[in-house]
Amino acid sequence: MQRERALCPRTTAQPNMHLFIALRRILAGLVSGVEGVLTNAAVFLVDFAFTLFNLVTPNRRKGRVILEGHPGFGGKWPEYIPPREGDSRSSCPALNAMANHGLLPRDGKNIKFTELNAAIRRVYNFSPTFCFFVPNYIANALVRSYRTDRFDLSDIDAHNCIEHDASLTRVDSYADPDQGKIAKALVEEVLNSGTGPGGDLTPDDLSRLLGKRRVEAKRQNPKFSLAFIHKMFGSSNGSTMLTIFGGRVQDLRPILSEERLPDGWEPRVRHRMGLTMLEFNFTVLPVELSIKEEVDGSIGSAGQERYEGAGKTEKAE
Ligand code: HEM
Repeated sequence: MQRERALCPRTTAQPNMHLFIALRRILAGLVSGVEGVLTNAAVFLVDFAFTLFNLVTPNRRKGRVILEGHPGFGGKWPEYIPPREGDSRSSCPALNAMANHGLLPRDGKNIKFTELNAAIRRVYNFSPTFCFFVPNYIANALVRSYRTDRFDLSDIDAHNCIEHDASLTRVDSYADPDQGKIAKALVEEVLNSGTGPGGDLTPDDLSRLLGKRRVEAKRQNPKFSLAFIHKMFGSSNGSTMLTIFGGRVQDLRPILSEERLPDGWEPRVRHRMGLTMLEFNFTVLPVELSIKEEVDGSIGSAGQERYEGAGKTEKAE
């Protein structure tokens, strides 16, 4: 009898154990759900207050966006050293550039999420709300603690967290899982697409580039996916080129093709509280909503040519 029990150790205590685990999970789910809603509500409220503050306070002076005492003050960025063998890099040119200048650890490893928050605030003049929201989002997506955990730059390339198909500066992860690699041809296309003064990028250029890239990527990648949230990440990431980098191709060239901050560069957004999420969305939404390929059927039909008979309707026998 004892031997049977050892082989098949089901006891009456087990249903209680299952119930206990299930109750703990439900409780933990509820607590984290409520915590998430409250955190986001607080962030959006504070973000709104920062937007109002920016409206009523004068901008920082030109040449004084990076505060005195911080690297980059007066346009002098710490030495640029391209990544070495074994260093970690990501699909984000802005974060890689920080590592290449030693504004984040040069090897791109063992970075605290809180450290990322402070670094983005100092270097790119995004608002404190954005600087908390995005690192906190990626920490949650990677099932880590924003407050205590760390990451390597390449960790943020987990597919379909923030990294997604149809990027403007990377081939899809289906074609190359190493998303730290700059796609030179794509970058050149971005840099040569500006129709603004001096060839600078405009919001229309960005919508056109994103639409074209989505069709192209879906045609080339049989595993293509792009949920609504990833479209929004795509247009948000791209919109930093219009806001923080002012659409200026002269600055974007070293940033996108070498992941280097050019001498004398400073963020084009000069508000005291930085670029808030609310203000940023006044660029992101028009860019996303003006992508004509999203409504003319070209994204929907792209890639269907791979399948015999696709698009034809069967005649009833
Ligand atoms: C706050 C932390 C940040 C995280 C976690 C992050 C993450 C990412 C990721 C995962 C991508 C790749 C998305 C894709 O697949 O296309 C990306 C792309 C990009 N990010 Fe970031 N990023 C951050 C901050 C920034 C900042 C501060 C800027 C600009 C100042 C920026 C500019 C860009 C640009 C220009 C791209 C390329 C977009 C493209 O290829 O379509 N990012 N970012």
